[in-house]
Amino acid sequence: MAINQLKVPGKVFSGNDSYLKMKDIIESEEVKNVLLITDKGIEGAGIIQPVLELLREAGVNSEIFYHVQAEPTHNDVTQLVSEIGDTPADYIVAVGGGSVLDVAKLVSVLKGATYSIGNLLETPGIAKKQVKSLLIPTTCGTGSEATCNAIVGVPEKGIKIGIVNDALIPDAAILDAVFVKNLPQKHLAAAAVDALCHCVECYTSNKANAFSDMFAAEGAKLIFHNIREAYANPANLEARSQLLIGSFYGGVAITSSGTTAVHALSYPLGGEFHIPHGVANAILFEKVMRVNKPDITNELAALCDTVYPEKATLSINEKAEVMIEDIADIVQKLDIPTDLAGFGVELKDLDFLVEAGSGVRRLLDNNKRALTKEEITEIYLSVLNDQTGGEKNE
Ligand SMILES: NC(=O)c1ccc[n+]([C@@H]2O[C@H](COP(=O)([O-])OP(=O)(O)OC[C@H]3O[C@@H](n4cnc5c(N)ncnc54)[C@H](O)[C@@H]3O)[C@@H](O)[C@H]2O)c1
Ligand SMILES: [Zn+2]
Repeated sequence: MAINQLKVPGKVFSGNDSYLKMKDIIESEEVKNVLLITDKGIEGAGIIQPVLELLREAGVNSEIFYHVQAEPTHNDVTQLVSEIGDTPADYIVAVGGGSVLDVAKLVSVLKGATYSIGNLLETPGIAKKQVKSLLIPTTCGTGSEATCNAIVGVPEKGIKIGIVNDALIPDAAILDAVFVKNLPQKHLAAAAVDALCHCVECYTSNKANAFSDMFAAEGAKLIFHNIREAYANPANLEARSQLLIGSFYGGVAITSSGTTAVHALSYPLGGEFHIPHGVANAILFEKVMRVNKPDITNELAALCDTVYPEKATLSINEKAEVMIEDIADIVQKLDIPTDLAGFGVELKDLDFLVEAGSGVRRLLDNNKRALTKEEITEIYLSVLNDQTGGEKNE
């Protein structure tokens, strides 16, 4: 029997005002100097204030860095690490979406290290924790507050690359819905579909195991049941807080299992065409599941049993179809733009996409169906075709 391992942050808090638990960590670990990492969007939304006040009251010295770019590249990370320099820090606190959290995790292994992010892209295994980290997600999506991954754009290759190392798992995470209260609908939509991808892909992955199945299935249940409501009714904080938990579960599932072809094929859409991560996944999600279906019918049906137990009398094939149709319905109801032309992607880019997407072996190897080049071409063509009502592939 294979050996499975569950890896989670050392401390995880959830619930209203759970951010106050930060004080316990500061006291018990005698934290004196905090590096606070966030971005301009978070600063503008005013969510950082309670954290600043808490740090002040706790008598902690804090230095704030606001310069994280959305969908960061490795160059952005290098710049931030050099800006931070030898600013004293015994804890990193990050408040933000996946972009901020990933950068903070990278800083936690790069600050004062003898290796660079360039070295980590080549040899991720050398990463060692340099500074502890506490992450507070402000989008209900990426699950980065749980994962051992940090994803950066590599512009010279037109692709995104996930750096994977257990040292990237944060030391603490706080899931407090107050931080997602004012999350704009557009960002909620992209991030929450990303979280759903994490759960569904991990559940249908070659690496799926008893631990990841539990988190992926429960995460999927929370997200399928709350995502439409959270989007349609921004005042429903309960729905948002369920998404926050579901996305954390998705992150735990990633660390134990792994995402598959949706994420693999979305990397060039993000890396070369700067399509936000969640949007790129949303564009591909249904199409990839359809091509994968012959090899994952049982897994999709089992997921249906957890998410929609009332459909128990349907056949296995019908249950799998319910899940794929539901995915398509969510992407449509959340108004996610699936017009690739709007992002500057054209038919002439097909060869690049197929080449770059086929190269993401780390994730394609997790895909139950061994996708052929023809199938990868078919998937990209079908999303290119969506913009013209399916004319090009007829
Ligand atoms: N490490 C992982 O396991 C993992 C998993 C999935 C995605 N990612 C990465 O995460 C990034 C995407 O993260 P994301 O989807 O969370 O978006 P994001 O962090 O890029 O944020 C998108 C925008 O929303 C704003 N924003 C975030 N929270 C807000 C709030 N509460 N109120 C107002 N504005 C807010 C930000 O300022 C930013 O402008 C990508 O780089 C992706 O590759 C990482
Ligand atoms: Zn993702």
